[in-house]
Amino acid sequence: MNLMEAQQTIAKQLEQVLLQFDQVDLTTSQIADLIEVPKNSDLGDFAFPTFQLAKQLHQVPVKIAQQIVADLDSSAFTKVVAQGPYVNFFLQRPAIVTQTLATVVTTGEHFGDQQTGQQARIVIDMSSPNIAKPMSMGHLRSTVIGNSIAKILAKLDYQPIKINHLGDWGTQFGKLMVAYKKWGNEADVKRDPINSLQKYYVKFHQLDQKYPELDEEARAWFRKLEAGDEEATHLWQWFRDESLKSFTKVYDELGVQFDSYTGEAFYNDKMAEIVDLLQQKGLLQESKGAEIVDLGPDLPPALIKKSDGATLYITRDLAAALYRKRTYHFAKALYVVGSEQSVHFEQLKAVLAKMGYAWSEDIEHIKFGLITAGGKKLSTRQGRVILLENVLQDSVTLARQQIDEKNPTLADKETVAHAVGVGAVIFHDLKNNRTDNFDFQLEEVVRFEGETGPYVQYTHARAMSILRKAAQQSDDKVAWEQVDDNTWEIAKLLADFPRIIQQAGTQREPSVIAKYALRLAKAFNHYYAHTKVLVADAQLAARLQLVQAVAIVLKEALNLLGVQAPDEM
Ligand code: ARG
Repeated sequence: MNLMEAQQTIAKQLEQVLLQFDQVDLTTSQIADLIEVPKNSDLGDFAFPTFQLAKQLHQVPVKIAQQIVADLDSSAFTKVVAQGPYVNFFLQRPAIVTQTLATVVTTGEHFGDQQTGQQARIVIDMSSPNIAKPMSMGHLRSTVIGNSIAKILAKLDYQPIKINHLGDWGTQFGKLMVAYKKWGNEADVKRDPINSLQKYYVKFHQLDQKYPELDEEARAWFRKLEAGDEEATHLWQWFRDESLKSFTKVYDELGVQFDSYTGEAFYNDKMAEIVDLLQQKGLLQESKGAEIVDLGPDLPPALIKKSDGATLYITRDLAAALYRKRTYHFAKALYVVGSEQSVHFEQLKAVLAKMGYAWSEDIEHIKFGLITAGGKKLSTRQGRVILLENVLQDSVTLARQQIDEKNPTLADKETVAHAVGVGAVIFHDLKNNRTDNFDFQLEEVVRFEGETGPYVQYTHARAMSILRKAAQQSDDKVAWEQVDDNTWEIAKLLADFPRIIQQAGTQREPSVIAKYALRLAKAFNHYYAHTKVLVADAQLAARLQLVQAVAIVLKEALNLLGVQAPDEM
């Protein structure tokens, strides 16, 4: 019996015993749901509360607990005792630890792999920054959350397809062209593309309140672009190429790759079909010269075509959804986009449903909260941005300083500092529930103690260093005899990893993995503070096996977050 089966076994045993009471009406799974894990392991590994039974039977809970203990087959447990209204189960720790650790060290990085997905395809719309603007912290969130979800889903045997729906079309290009022609010059853009384009964009927004004709000019330029005007197209292509180069640098730093970069412009020749389909299905209505789809009282209407004929964000998303369904035959389509776009995605699903596509149900908006800095919202328009490239660079520098202090003789400091600095930023982003807002403070992010990525990485490196120092190899065939509480805590956590991955996948929530990694790292550091691992006694091989299993699972948990785990730091 392993730990994962233990709860099932307990439920089955209880069901047997409960047959004798005819008034009781509980299924095995209802019984399993009632089983608790006591806070204090003195009270056993699992506990069954009898309150609900007592109500059904009109009896005192304490009595029922005693009777269950008297009748239950306890041979699979170390002991089963009644304690007040609870039945407490003590598992056979040595057998379970032996089995769990052997499984971890023999399966290695594949520990926790599951077959749930059966290769079903899940497209993940992620990152999707806007061209000619610096990549924001919000796009960082989308990138790292999407990347981690893709890794988690792949571990569950789904086939993730990562799509970068680049914001490479829209009225902002009109503004940018006006700004570039008025205040820009080619040399600046070539030297420092994103920052120069960003400067022009900010300047445009500083002046367009006062000079409304700027907006009119911008609209005209965008119309030229839509009509295929040569100069406009040339500028657009240039802005796009330069921006993509700088985004790619960030993706390389983060270690994120995409399966497709089909952005908004890709759908230019696929919009007419959408408008036609909506027309045929009688869904298009005219409203003040614009074409809309009415979505009833709960949602604002979807604006499909503006009065000047320009198509809109949602029209592109409709075309994209249809294209993705036809191209990938997805089982689910995820959109990792900030919570502020919730209404947009509700509208998208609603329009697709009205068009008669049952698969609109398979669309999921994977929302996330805002990053603030010093409590303030970030805004590109007002030029209040944290530049992602700078964040990553600064984080790597801070990591480097700490490594110089802690481990001055470390080989290949550059590589390790990079893994730690970048990993710190990713981990910080993923450790909170994705819908929470959080404040960004670099010094917090790169600490080696506390709930940080470097703390988990450091714990992994510590485990690896113990294994390096050991005179013997850890052994995958160890028979555990006694198991102390600290070891038991770790074994239980390790055995829980597959369930944790499943939960993270179902909830599309990388924080489940990050929080787990922190718990495991903490448990291991606690163990290490109380146990001399490298002592030559009969239990040495067993302890090394434990250390190895922890190293494997910490590394794999970090990997699922998209964070590297250096062997030394
Ligand atoms: N480019 C958009 C933005 O930065 C995000 C695009 C999200 N994906 C989508 N299919 N709408 O706000």
